[in-house]
Amino acid sequence: MSEHGSQDAAGMDTQTRLGVVGCGLMGRGIAQIAASAGDKVVLVDNRPGAAEEAREELAATLQRLTARGKMTSAQADATLANISTADTLDGLDGCEVVIEAIVENLAVKKSLFADLEHILGPDTILASNTSSLSVTAIAAELEHPERVAGMHFFSPVPLMKVVEVIDGLLSDRRVGDRLMQLGQRWGHTAVRAKDTPGFIVNHAGRGFGTEGMRVHAESVAPHPVIDRILRDCAGFRLGPFELLDLTGLDVSTPVMESIYHQYYEEPRYRPQPLLRTMLAAGLLGRKVGRGFYTYGLDGKPEIAPERAVPPVRADRVWVSEARPELAATVKALLQRLGATVSDAAHPDEDELIVLTPLGEDASTCAAAQNLDATRTVAIDAVFGLDRRRVLMTTPATTPEWRDLALGLLGADGVPVDAVRDSAGIVAQRVVAHIVNIACEIAQQGVASPADIDRAVSLGLGYPHGPLAWGDTLGATVVLTMLENLAAASGDPRYRPSPWLRRRAALGLSLLSQDD
Ligand code: NAI
Repeated sequence: MSEHGSQDAAGMDTQTRLGVVGCGLMGRGIAQIAASAGDKVVLVDNRPGAAEEAREELAATLQRLTARGKMTSAQADATLANISTADTLDGLDGCEVVIEAIVENLAVKKSLFADLEHILGPDTILASNTSSLSVTAIAAELEHPERVAGMHFFSPVPLMKVVEVIDGLLSDRRVGDRLMQLGQRWGHTAVRAKDTPGFIVNHAGRGFGTEGMRVHAESVAPHPVIDRILRDCAGFRLGPFELLDLTGLDVSTPVMESIYHQYYEEPRYRPQPLLRTMLAAGLLGRKVGRGFYTYGLDGKPEIAPERAVPPVRADRVWVSEARPELAATVKALLQRLGATVSDAAHPDEDELIVLTPLGEDASTCAAAQNLDATRTVAIDAVFGLDRRRVLMTTPATTPEWRDLALGLLGADGVPVDAVRDSAGIVAQRVVAHIVNIACEIAQQGVASPADIDRAVSLGLGYPHGPLAWGDTLGATVVLTMLENLAAASGDPRYRPSPWLRRRAALGLSLLSQDD
C-alpha cells in the first residue's frame, strides 16, 4: 500500500480532501474542525437534502462563533468555502480520506464501505466514527480491509478535543498514522487504541458509574450524598447520578450492558439492576424531568438541604494507629477543631473512637482491633478534609455517638456527611476501581499508558488521568484499597490488575511501560 495523503518536504501534512458520509451531529462536527484547519470537505448523506442542510447549519454555527469573537469573519468564510456537498457517494471521488458517521449499525456500515470501495481507489483511507462496533468487523469483508481504521470522535466534536484512532486487526499501521496526523492537524489530541470493546474512553468510563451505582445498591448513602462526596472530595465535575441523568439512562444503560457482555461478563464492568427498573419506569433523566433526581421547570434538580450539624460535639477522641499516616492527618484536624486527642494505646470509656480505613469497612476494623463499635466511627482521610468530610458508622454505632462525631467534624463549618458502613467508604472505592480499570487497559495493551491518561482526562473530564491519579495516591495505597475491597466483598470485581500489582511491588509509576 502506498503512502496515504500528501505531505510536504518537512513531513507536515498539507491540505487533505476529506469526505464525510452522514451529516448528523457527528458528521457536521467533523466537517467543521477539518474545514477550519484548511482541509477540503465533501458532505454526503443518504437523506435527500441533508448534506445541504448540514452545510447551512454549519454556516449558522460559524456565524455564531464569529459573533462571539471565536473566529474572524474571514476565517468563517474560508471555513465555509472549504465545505461542499454531493448528492451521491460518487461525489467523493478524489477524496484521500473518507470518514463515515452514519447510523450505528454493523450491516449498514459494512454495506456503505463496500459501496465506497467501488468508487474510491485502493489508497483512499476509509475511517469509521463508530463508538461501539468492531472496526475489524466493519472492514473484514472488503477487498482492501487494510485501508480501514477507526476515528472515534466525541460529542460535541469541536469542543471535545480528543479523538481515538483505532487499528483494526487487518488495518495497515500507516492508515492509523495518517489519521493520527489528521486528528492533530484539526486541533485534537489523537490517541491510538486497539480494536477492543469501548476502545479507551468508553472502557475506562465503566468504573465511575458502575461503582457509584454499587455503593448506592449497598445502601451506603442516598444518591445525592454519593454525588456530592465524589464532587467535593475526589474532584469529579459531576457525581455518577448527575452524569447518568444528564446522559440519559436510555443512552448509558445499553453502553454499560454492551461493554459488560462484550467482555464476557467481566465483573469489573457489571452494571446494577436498578438501571433496568428505572428504564422500565421511563425515569430517563434530565430530558424527561425525572431520573435519579426530579427536575423543576428551571431545569435544576430538587435536592433536600443538607442535614444541619448537630449541636453536640465529642471533646475527647481516640484515633486508631492502624494506618499511621492517615491517623496523623485526622488527629491534626481533630486537634484543630478543639478536641483532646488521646495518645494512649487503648481508648478510654468516654472517648469517641475514630478509624481511618483503607479499603476496609469500619465493622471489620473495629472487630479486628477489639474496639467498642457502639462509639466507633471512621473518617475517609485519603482525599483531603477541607471541602467535605465523610464519616462512616458501623451498624452498632449509636445515634448519640454518631451525632457527637458529626458535631465535632462540622465544628468549623466544613460540610460533613455520615454514610453507612462500606469497604472503601465512597471515594476510595470509586477511585480505586477507576485506577484499576485503567491499569487493566494498559495491561491488555489497548493503548499506551500516556494515551490512556490523555484520553480519559479529555474524554471523560476526570480531575486527573487515572494512572497519574494512582501514582499520586500511591500504587501501594490503591493496591491495599483493592485487596481489602476484594477481601471484604469476595467479589472478583475488585481483584487488582497485574499492572498495578507489579508496579506497586517494584515501586514503579503506573505510567511506566514494559519494554
Ligand atoms: P445522527 O443520527 O445525528 O446522524 C446520522 C446521519 O447519517 C443522518 O443524517 C442520516 O441521514 C445519515 N445516514 C444514515 N444512514 C446512512 C447511510 N447508509 N448513508 C449515508 N448517510 C446515512 O447520528 P450521530 O449522532 O451524528 O452519530 C453518527 C455516528 O457517530 C454513529 O455511528 C455513532 O455511533 C457515532 N458516534 C456518535 C456519538 C454521539 O454522541 N452522537 C459519539 C461518538 C460516535
